[in-house]
Amino acid sequence: MQPREPSRTALAAARHRAAHQVLEGGRIFTDPLASLILGEMAEEVARDAQQHTSRRPMRIFIAARTRFAEDSLAAAVDRGTRQLVVLGAGLDTYAYRGACRESLRIFEVDHPATQAWKRRRLADAAIPLPVGLTFAPIDFERVTLTEGLKAVGFQPNVPTFFTWLGVVPYLTDGAIWSTLTFIAKLPGGAQVVFDYADPLETLTTESRARHEKRAARVTQLGEAWLTYFEAATLHPKLRELGFTEIEDLGPRQIAARYFPSRATIAPERGGHILRTAVNPNR
Ligand SMILES: C[S@@+](CC[C@H](N)C(=O)[O-])C[C@H]1O[C@@H](n2cnc3c(N)ncnc32)[C@H](O)[C@@H]1O
Repeated sequence: MQPREPSRTALAAARHRAAHQVLEGGRIFTDPLASLILGEMAEEVARDAQQHTSRRPMRIFIAARTRFAEDSLAAAVDRGTRQLVVLGAGLDTYAYRGACRESLRIFEVDHPATQAWKRRRLADAAIPLPVGLTFAPIDFERVTLTEGLKAVGFQPNVPTFFTWLGVVPYLTDGAIWSTLTFIAKLPGGAQVVFDYADPLETLTTESRARHEKRAARVTQLGEAWLTYFEAATLHPKLRELGFTEIEDLGPRQIAARYFPSRATIAPERGGHILRTAVNPNR
C-alpha cells in the first residue's frame, strides 16, 4: 500500500465484480451496486475486461470468493451472528445491499486512504449509508484490531462474522496472525472467510507463469503479494489458535461449486477460499 493513496488493487477487484455482472450476467455473484460505486459505465468496464482475456480466472475467483463469503454469512446470521466486520473492505458493497444487512451491526475496516476514497465514491454515487454501519480506518500493519475496533464500539461478546477478501496475500505474517488470534479469542464466538494462495514453488509451470505475471502487475501498483500458505501447515495453526471448523476450497472445489464447466480443467493448486469458525453455535 502507498500510505497516502487509495488501494489500486481495491479498484481492480471492484472492476472485476462490475465486469462479472455484464460478462457472466452476475451468474456467480449478483451485485446491483458494482458499477454504480465505481462511477464507471458497466459496459465500458466489461469491454476493457473482454480485451484482456487473461484476467478472466481472477474475475471468476473474485466473484466466487464474494459469493462464498455472503452465503456463509447468511448461514451464520440464521444461527445468531449479529456483527459483521469487513476487513480491508475496498469497494465491497455488502453493507449497502446485502440481504441480512438490517440484522447486523456492520464495521467496515480499511486502510485510511482507501476508506476515505470509498466514502467519496459512496457520496458521489448517492448510495445511502445504513444506520448500523460504522467506518473504522485502520492500518493492519500499525494498529491491532483490538485497539482499532475497541475505539469504534465493537462488542466482543456478540457473535461476529469477518470477511477478509483479497487482503491476506498483501500482509506480513505478523499482521495476519495477530488478526487471526484476535478473532479466535473473541468471547462471543466468530467466523472468518479469507482467501490465500498456495506457495509458488508448488504450482505447475503454467500456473506459476500466470501467477508471476499477475504478481508483477500488483507489485507495479505498489501492493506486492507477500504471503502464501500451504493448507497442511495453515490448518493445524488455525486449530492451535482455537478454530474448531475449517472449510477450505481449493481451485478444483471452487470450480466444481461455482463454475462446473471448468471443473475438469481447473488446476489442482492455486487460490483458496477458506472459512474458519470458533464456537460457531453460540
Ligand atoms: C485487493 S483489495 C480487496 C478489497 C475488497 N476486500 C474486495 O474484495 O474488493 C485489498 C484491500 O486491502 C486493504 N489493505 C491492504 N493492506 C492493508 C493494511 N495494511 N491495512 C489495512 N488495509 C489494508 C486495501 O486498502 C484494500 O482495500
